[in-house]
Parts: sequence; structure tokens; C-alpha cells
Amino acid sequence: MTDIVLYLHLALGLFVLAALVLNRVRQWKAPVLAAALLLVLSGAYNFMTHMAGAPKGWHAFIGIKLLLALHVIAMLFLMSRGTAPPEKVARWRKGALVSCTLVVAIGLYFSNFAS
Ligand code: HEM
Repeated sequence: MTDIVLYLHLALGLFVLAALVLNRVRQWKAPVLAAALLLVLSGAYNFMTHMAGAPKGWHAFIGIKLLLALHVIAMLFLMSRGTAPPEKVARWRKGALVSCTLVVAIGLYFSNFAS
């Protein structure tokens, strides 16, 4: 179960990153927002199941990952509304791309390399 949720979390995370890279948040509004909500739920599950026996620095980095992930999700909601001027959306997208790349990197590091 733990592995399945982590793989689902990975797939959802890569989908959100792809939507940002390809600039399709507005067009893929419903699946992107559904993925954002599922990321929060599966992320909370990962948090509870990976907390015991976590490596050094895990809590600090996963805490930072959570804050950056919330930044990405807030930007997804704002971008998907489609009411902001294009320059503002471009700025939001750039910030979300930076945060999302860091979030994916921290997650992959702790799931696969830290011990
Ligand atoms: C934009 C949203 C998010 C993205 C793109 C994302 C991405 C990822 C990725 C790629 C992984 C590694 C998965 C794997 O190796 O199979 C991961 C792991 C994880 N994520 Fe997220 N995540 C997001 C949101 C969240 C949230 C909101 C939480 C809540 C605390 C969270 C908590 C975790 C935890 C605890 C792990 C496992 C770390 C470990 O194995 O020790 N994530 N995430």
C-alpha cells in the first residue's frame, strides 16, 4: 500500500510538472486541480508512513518540500482561473516551475537515495 501511494504521488507530481513545463495549466484545468488535491492527500499519507526511522535532515527538508508544494498548488489554482493578465501568469508559472522542480528533487532524493 505504502509503495502504491508513493508511485501514485510520483505520477501526479510529474503530471503537474509537465503541465507547468508545457504551459497547459489553463487547458488541463480539471485534471490539474484534481492532481493538486490528490498530491496533498497522498503527501500527507507519505508523511505519516515515512516519518518513523527517517534519515537525518528528513523533517527539515520534507517541511521545506511541503511549503514549496503549497506554493506550487496555490499558483496552479490562480493560473487555472484565467482572469489574470498574461505577464502575471508568466511570472506565476516561472515561480511555480522553480518550486516544483525543487519539490520533485527533494522527494526523489529522500525516497530513493537517502538512508
Ligand atoms: C506539487 C506538489 C508535489 C509534488 C510535485 C511532489 C513530488 C514528490 C515526488 C516526485 C516524490 C518522490 C516519489 C518517488 O520517489 O516515488 C515525493 C515524495 C514525498 N512527498 Fe511529495 N510532492 C508534492 C506534494 C507533497 C505534499 C503536499 C506533501 C505533504 C507533506 C508531500 C510529502 C511527500 C513525502 C513525505 C514524500 C516521501 C519522502 C520519503 O520517501 O522519505 N508531497 N513527492
